[in-house]
Amino acid sequence: MNLQHWADALKSHWGITADLRRLDGEYDLNFMATGPDGTGYILKAMRPDCEAWLVEMQVQAFQHIASNTPDLPCPRVIPSSSGAAMLSLRDENGANRLCWILECLPGQCYAKVSPKSLALIHEVGAVLGGAGKALADFQHPGLERDFKWDLMRAGWIGAEIDSITDPKRQSLIREINTVFTKLEPVLAGLPKQAIHNDANDYNIMVTGELTQPRRVSGLIDLGDMCAAPRICDLAIAAAYIVLDHAAPEGALAALVAGYHSAYPLTPQEVDLIYPLLRARLAVSVVNSTLMALENPDDPYVTISQAPAWRFLETHDLHPGLLGARLRAACDMPVVEGADRVMTWLQAERGNFAPLMGEDLSEAPMGSLSVESSTWPQNPFHMPLEEAARVGEEFEDQGRIWLGYYHEPRLIYAEPAFRKGPYKASNRRTVHLAVDAFAPDFTPMFAPLDGEVFVVENRTGHLDYGGVIILRHETPAGDPFYTLYGHLDPECCDRLSPGDKIAKGAEFCRLGDHSMNGGWAPHVHFQLALTTEGIEADWPGVGDPDEMYMWRAICPNPAALLNLPDDKCHYTPTNKDEIRQGRQDHFGGNLSLTYSDPVMLVRGWKHHLFDEWGRPYLDAYNNVPHVGHAHPRIQAVAADQLKRMNSNTRYLHPAQTAFADKILSKMPDHLQVCFFVNSGTEANELALRLARAHTGAKGMVTPDHGYHGNTTGAIAVSAYKFNKPGGVGKADWVELVEVADDYRGSFIRDDPDRAQKFADLVDPAIKALQERGQGIAGFIAETFPSVGGQIIPPKGYLPAVYEKIRAAGGICIADEVQTGLGRLGDYYFGFEHQGASPDIVVMGKPIGNGHPLGVLVTTREIAESFNNGIEFFSTFGGSTLSCRMGKEVLDIVDDEGLQENARSMGADLIAGLKALETKHACVGDIRGMGLFLGLELINADGSEATQICSYVKNRMRDHRILIGSEGPKDNILKIRPPLTIDAEGVEMILASLDSVLSEVVLP
Ligand SMILES: Cc1ncc(COP(=O)(O)O)c(C=O)c1O
Repeated sequence: MNLQHWADALKSHWGITADLRRLDGEYDLNFMATGPDGTGYILKAMRPDCEAWLVEMQVQAFQHIASNTPDLPCPRVIPSSSGAAMLSLRDENGANRLCWILECLPGQCYAKVSPKSLALIHEVGAVLGGAGKALADFQHPGLERDFKWDLMRAGWIGAEIDSITDPKRQSLIREINTVFTKLEPVLAGLPKQAIHNDANDYNIMVTGELTQPRRVSGLIDLGDMCAAPRICDLAIAAAYIVLDHAAPEGALAALVAGYHSAYPLTPQEVDLIYPLLRARLAVSVVNSTLMALENPDDPYVTISQAPAWRFLETHDLHPGLLGARLRAACDMPVVEGADRVMTWLQAERGNFAPLMGEDLSEAPMGSLSVESSTWPQNPFHMPLEEAARVGEEFEDQGRIWLGYYHEPRLIYAEPAFRKGPYKASNRRTVHLAVDAFAPDFTPMFAPLDGEVFVVENRTGHLDYGGVIILRHETPAGDPFYTLYGHLDPECCDRLSPGDKIAKGAEFCRLGDHSMNGGWAPHVHFQLALTTEGIEADWPGVGDPDEMYMWRAICPNPAALLNLPDDKCHYTPTNKDEIRQGRQDHFGGNLSLTYSDPVMLVRGWKHHLFDEWGRPYLDAYNNVPHVGHAHPRIQAVAADQLKRMNSNTRYLHPAQTAFADKILSKMPDHLQVCFFVNSGTEANELALRLARAHTGAKGMVTPDHGYHGNTTGAIAVSAYKFNKPGGVGKADWVELVEVADDYRGSFIRDDPDRAQKFADLVDPAIKALQERGQGIAGFIAETFPSVGGQIIPPKGYLPAVYEKIRAAGGICIADEVQTGLGRLGDYYFGFEHQGASPDIVVMGKPIGNGHPLGVLVTTREIAESFNNGIEFFSTFGGSTLSCRMGKEVLDIVDDEGLQENARSMGADLIAGLKALETKHACVGDIRGMGLFLGLELINADGSEATQICSYVKNRMRDHRILIGSEGPKDNILKIRPPLTIDAEGVEMILASLDSVLSEVVLP
């Protein structure tokens, strides 16, 4: 291939100087041409015998789009110096080729983009719709083509079905073809226009890497254009979008909504999408099968059809329900007449017979929402005893009270409501009905004439018990349905499908908990505008992320209760308003995690829930040491608050009990406790003790450390004072390099690295002495956490302590992050080091969320501090705090949480090490127990801050909360409550694996 020949052609005919690279293409010559300023072009030199009309059609179509819709992302045809869009040029063999140039679009093809977010898919739809709209008036004789990729002619596969030998596959394709054949007349009745006809994932270009938003940069390759109904264009794109997508229905909805936003569709067209999508996939697999027969030795033919088979064989989506979903995504009535039903219901509000036999307009509402209610205590398990009492707080002598429509609730706790394998998988939480709670056996009356559609007794755990679905019709003949759940199943003996029920007739009654699925007596009253795909088994709650569909299929039934919609409609607290409130009321340096922050309103063990009831696996928060909402912690707090809560100026056994418990975990020489409110306060106090004991002020501390937010604590926190805008280093402080044997001065293959790091303390001591500060002490997070989850080499701390003590100082171990069993093998980090600190500081986990800090020291140091001035911290050592702190330590012991940290930590580390070998961006895995760090690196080994931010945000999309840390913020910090279980470990590893696969190092 003579690249120079084509470079010369480019220069002489287009005036473009560029470097050329050959691209794929069997007969046509395609070149990537890059100009000196980086501008890219695609030079296309068509095969000598190419169909000139086809090239001309494409060129004109690109030009048409560009002039019709200049803003649409689409490549431009670059005219030659003479203004021609195409030229006939000789190739190096003397043959004439039609040549043309397209602007090269930035980015990569959609096939290579991961993740394929719904926002991106929506944009793909919008760009395809925009192109369709732009091409609506494009004319070219070549558009009327007779070829196999015209979806209108997909029926050709009918004659080739026998080529598929597998009988199951054969009957699948036959069924798709039969459906398609029935649709042919419908398709024939739709207007035709020029369409792209091949928006597959290699023909859609996408820009944006990692943290940048991904945007469609254009559609390429108009080589399959033809005239057909525009819906064929969308169905073809849809056929590729669904392949291997974890949630194809949602992806389809996003694509169709995007298309509709640019080029509005009709409901009839929307209904065609799914059968046409299947027809297109059937055409693909039949075509590949025929090609495989022709080229039996080409494995690619079989491989390429695998995703299409996978989709066809594993996804039997209900066309009616999917149609309703797609219509809902486009804001259309979910079925023909649904809008008329709603208009009629609104008009008839007030005229329906009272369901409960009385006017409900004054009936109180009771919220069971995830925000307002604590039912059930364990959001992953609803015991029958609790179910039978749900809402008892609203009980008022048998008076009817109502439960909200559209309310996210955690009472649907069983695995059946989960949509994935993990407790933190998506889950259906949002109530699609209104409840009326009333005494058992309260009779109910039909709000309007109806016919029994379903009457059943569903005896499953927390199911409906007796349930009736009635079918109704508006006077105009539009059908709709109402469901009554949790009934006395006696109705099953009286009623049968087809029975007529007159408006106002008593037709059923509430069951008691022994017969209604186990619940406090109430009726679940739900409206549905279609039963397509849900038939007799309606979901009573929906996934919050799918409410665009469920609100449309099962709207608020308030009108049928003669109530205003607003009364019964629940809206969770608006996260954006809270965010705005924070901005209005708080300082700007109160930071929020995640580009799209989470609002968390409930927790249980190592899971948290947002205002929609979406669960998150908490792999980040170390404060809820024994788990969120621990019942023993709740009980202790409630019990003590019922009694009294006072301070250390009075005697109380809780104070000494707590001290005894802490000291039982300490080396013998540490005998005196100080109770304060926070880790900060404990460290501040530690500085005072050090000064009082030594008479000196100078402190040595590792770089990038954090010890708290007060003036003194900040002064020993390089992580803060050395930040841009920080106060800088005080003259009584000296920093030493963190003993990081991955990235620091002495690395893991150096057996003397612990001593070498410790030796760095010598010049620091000397500098302080020379400045006349003396040596008050050394303070360090035993395992530096904000410094990057670092485990110093064994022996480092004893070596440092020896030097500090020789210089007259004392040694402070900040165990706020590492203490209380988190490390698994050790209760405190200093045990791992074989170090013997003079002061140990504890915070965060020791109160499990209650503000509590503890300092423990030697009798001698405590005596030096006891200089006649009272030490008093009003809330430090309060009765409540002491009981909480002791309860936390007891729970760690009673529930074997240190051992759990050890074994879960070991599994996590093993899994993370496997990820390290698999993903190039993982530089290091370190940690101990449930104190873990995963260092992310760029291709050159440097700190990958961007990647880390990306992974952290994507893990949140996978419903896992983790943090990031380190001087360059490139270390993922995994630090869950100690309750984490094997399932949680598996979820972290599987999700991390998937997210890390999205990171491609250059
Ligand atoms: C090691 C360490 N020490 C002290 C503190 C300060 O604790 P608090 O925020 O409870 O004052 C922290 C807080 O992050 C910490 O990580």
